[in-house]
Amino acid sequence: MERTFVMVKPDGVQRGLVAKVINSFEQKGCKLVALKMMKIDRELAEKHYGEHKGKPFFTPLVDYIISGPVVAMVLEGKDVITAARNVMGATNPLQAAIGTIRGDYGMDIGRNVVHGSDSPASAQREINLFFLPEEITEWSRTLETWIF
Ligand code: TYD
Ligand code: MG
Repeated sequence: MERTFVMVKPDGVQRGLVAKVINSFEQKGCKLVALKMMKIDRELAEKHYGEHKGKPFFTPLVDYIISGPVVAMVLEGKDVITAARNVMGATNPLQAAIGTIRGDYGMDIGRNVVHGSDSPASAQREINLFFLPEEITEWSRTLETWIF
C-alpha cells in the first residue's frame, strides 16, 4: 500500500476550503492516516521545495507557503500518489480540468490551493519532513474491502 503527502496550502485555509479539499480525496477512496494544522517555518519550506531552489518562483513560493497555516496530511491507498495528483489537477489552475481541486477552486499558479507529492521518493521524503512516525495512524477499513 502506497502513501503520499498532501497539504492544503495557505490560500486554501484562508478561503475555507479545508473540508472540501479533504473530501475530494476521501471520495476518491484515499484513506486519511495523518492530519494536522501547522505553520511552516522558512527552513522547512526551503527543504520541502528544495528541488525548485534557483528557479524564479522559488522565493515567492516559499514566502507564500509560510504566510499562514496549512493543513498537512498523509493519504494511503493503492497507487495513491497518482490518484491524489489526478484529484488535484494540473499545477496551473488555468490548465487544470474542471472537476479537479485546482480546476474548480484556483485561478493563479502561485495560489493553487493544494500540494501533493509527485513520486514515491518525494512522498517518502515529504512525509518524513512533516510527520513523526507516531503521528501516523495505521487502520483498516473493515467493511469496504474494494476501497483502499
Ligand atoms: P511544481 O512542483 O512544479 O508543481 P506541483 O505543485 O504541481 O507539484 O511546483 C511547485 C509549486 O510552485 C506549484 O504548486 C506552484 C509553484 N509554481 C509557480 O508559482 N510557478 C511555476 O512556474 C511553477 C512551475 C510552479
Ligand atoms: Mg511538485
